Amino acid sequence: MFMNFRRIHKVQCIQLLTTGLMLCGMIVFWEELDHHVVSHLRAFTYRYLINSYDFLNSSFISNHHHRKDGSNSVDVSKGNYPYLINHPDKCGGSGDGKTGDDVMLLLFVKSSPENFEQRQAIRDTWGNESFIWTELGASVKVVFALGIHQDGSQRAKLQAALLLEDQAYGDLIQQNFEDTFHNLTAKLILQFHWGHKYCCQARFLMSADDDIFIHMPNLVKYLRQVMSSQSGGRDLWVGHVHRGAPPVRRKNSKYHVPYDLYPWSSYPDYTAGAGYVVSGDVAAKIYHATLLLNPSIYIDDVFMGICAKTMGISPQEHVYISGEGKAPYHPCIYDRMITSHGHATDLRSLWQAATNPTVHSIPKGFIGNLYCTVVRVVLLCLPYYQNTYSCMAAFI
Ligand SMILES: *[C@@H]1O[C@H](CO)[C@@H](O)[C@H](O)[C@H]1NC(C)=O
Ligand SMILES: *[C@@H]1O[C@H](CO)[C@@H](O)[C@H](O)[C@H]1NC(C)=O
Ligand SMILES: *[C@@H]1O[C@H](CO)[C@@H](O)[C@H](O)[C@H]1NC(C)=O
Repeated sequence: MFMNFRRIHKVQCIQLLTTGLMLCGMIVFWEELDHHVVSHLRAFTYRYLINSYDFLNSSFISNHHHRKDGSNSVDVSKGNYPYLINHPDKCGGSGDGKTGDDVMLLLFVKSSPENFEQRQAIRDTWGNESFIWTELGASVKVVFALGIHQDGSQRAKLQAALLLEDQAYGDLIQQNFEDTFHNLTAKLILQFHWGHKYCCQARFLMSADDDIFIHMPNLVKYLRQVMSSQSGGRDLWVGHVHRGAPPVRRKNSKYHVPYDLYPWSSYPDYTAGAGYVVSGDVAAKIYHATLLLNPSIYIDDVFMGICAKTMGISPQEHVYISGEGKAPYHPCIYDRMITSHGHATDLRSLWQAATNPTVHSIPKGFIGNLYCTVVRVVLLCLPYYQNTYSCMAAFI
């Protein structure tokens, strides 16, 4: 009896102590807690219970620069800078309304002046237009979107190197803005304006980071499926979707957005900027949105979400388009993957492995499917590999 009472007493004491400690911890780590838990709860509640983003219309549409005719004169206040390197006839037209080539996909790689090696690796692997044409029978135009180097002292030297590179490959599109993280929205606007002016016949437009791997055969196959589907390849915006993402308020974060720039608790849905695809009609709508909206939000994929929301477009998820992490290396993944993020030196070896004909030597039928499902569950559903494809992808 006595022993029992003492034990209860002890348990209560411990409970009280832990509660106290937790409260103290919450006060001390409030910023962390707010960043990791509270802001997400708030954003999710907003996204799933209220889900109205009408405030975007009144807050981001700036009437002063409203240009209904979509005239193409340079308007820097809208993030539209003059071209320094351009290829108006890349898609076969010359930008004066001529139809141009039949282009399936216009693929913009967001690069930076100093990333010569990344661009070369892309040209040698998934970005090889003639490989895509001869081996896959698809017309894909790959161009690199750039600004100017942010360091004025290095700019002239780098610019000379860029001109040489462009003479050799003819695939750089450069505008006169500083190539910085906070100017990514200018780069987004570049892509949609260039696409509208010089390649508006393209069936699809893709935007990708320059450290991404794209499994081109799988992407082409997927886009063909989309074109032959009921929608006929219209009304598509597909990628790794962020739903109900809260603005980051922590000042030391790269993604920090102050309250006066975006006071609301949740962004409209958007796809991760690492890589996403839109159909031509959606690209045209985004282009028109960029003429109306104030590009003050410097996170490009969030700005894309705002543009899309005001045009009534919502993103779709593709489980094999990566938001952040690298895909696991395995033939059962290569069979399905579309993009994988965070590659540099391994781009060439991955391209070799992922497009190797032996990938298809995995036995088909029930046994092969079962084998690959088990492999994918191990690779994607265990907490070991995070941030690549969701566990759901194992079963698709
Ligand atoms: C305002 O926003 C809604 C969606 O939030 C959209 O459907 C509508 O077209 C927008 N109106 C204008 C004038 O842009
Ligand atoms: C691109 O692909 C073509 C056709 O497959 C090939 O002949 C060429 O060597 C490739 N170019 C590069 C830079 O890998
Ligand atoms: C963006 O580029 C413009 C034009 O070069 C420059 O004036 C501005 O400082 C840049 N903004 C940021 C945030 O880097």
